[in-house]
Amino acid sequence: MFAFNALKMGESHVFTSTKSLQSVLYTEYENLTIGFLPTMGALHHGHLELAKKALKENDKVVVSIFVNPTQFNKTEDLENYPRDLNADLKLLKTVGDVIVFTPSVEQIYPKDYQNLEIELGNLGTTMEGEFRPGHFVGVMNVVNRLFEIVQPTKAYFGIKDVQQVAVVQFMVDQVKSPVEIVACDIIREPSGLASSSRNYRLSIDELDEAVLIIETLRFAREMAKEYLPKETRKKAIEFFNQGTLKIEYFEIVHPRTLEFIEEWVPGAIACIAGYCGDVRLLDNLQLLPKK
Ligand code: PAF
Repeated sequence: MFAFNALKMGESHVFTSTKSLQSVLYTEYENLTIGFLPTMGALHHGHLELAKKALKENDKVVVSIFVNPTQFNKTEDLENYPRDLNADLKLLKTVGDVIVFTPSVEQIYPKDYQNLEIELGNLGTTMEGEFRPGHFVGVMNVVNRLFEIVQPTKAYFGIKDVQQVAVVQFMVDQVKSPVEIVACDIIREPSGLASSSRNYRLSIDELDEAVLIIETLRFAREMAKEYLPKETRKKAIEFFNQGTLKIEYFEIVHPRTLEFIEEWVPGAIACIAGYCGDVRLLDNLQLLPKK
């Protein structure tokens, strides 16, 4: 679709090649702070809030749009992933002047590409990791590769994907990367439903039904005032199961290690994944204040 290396789309510069992006970042913008928002497109309200925050906190902002094949464990999910670059660019134009990077698979994974040799342990196998084997190895590697290319000052991630944020922070610590990871609050629709590209696939009725997810998390937060994590979890699952959604997991975890907890710790989080029709939704809520 884009015949040139960089096109000016209103207020967005669109780069399709690593070389052309870097030629700007490493020369004209060399002494500027760069905020980076990695995405897979299908942009929504939540992404735009992250882009706005990045624009406030940095001289320049790069938004990557790259549907990363290595983080999908089902080919059909990769094939069906929504792709509409023009719609994404239009949305980005509403937030201001950003640089858009839309690389090809070959740009991200050249022939000599080697995966990082980092063992994610519990972070890679619990919750999302259990239900999407290999997912976080794919995420960790693509984020590392994008960081190598963009060399941002700060990178922005929504904590709706709290496990992804923990994995990225762990990877950054392991490779001693100077990138600052900025974990941003969950952006919610007025109903309380967490903003997500997947919400586009919900019918009007399902949008109502999906509110059960945040209601369950809020119910758990109430239960946490009286019960230990184990009972709180049990009661929250019972609450959820009264509705029409199908649960995949509900866990109460440590905010940093994401290990399941038996005693309350400051900042404890409840994480949930479930199906509304055939759409898999994810959310989490801090049950106890941080210290
Ligand atoms: O959250 C996402 O959209 C993706 O996992 C990310 C961070 C862009 C890596 O492909």
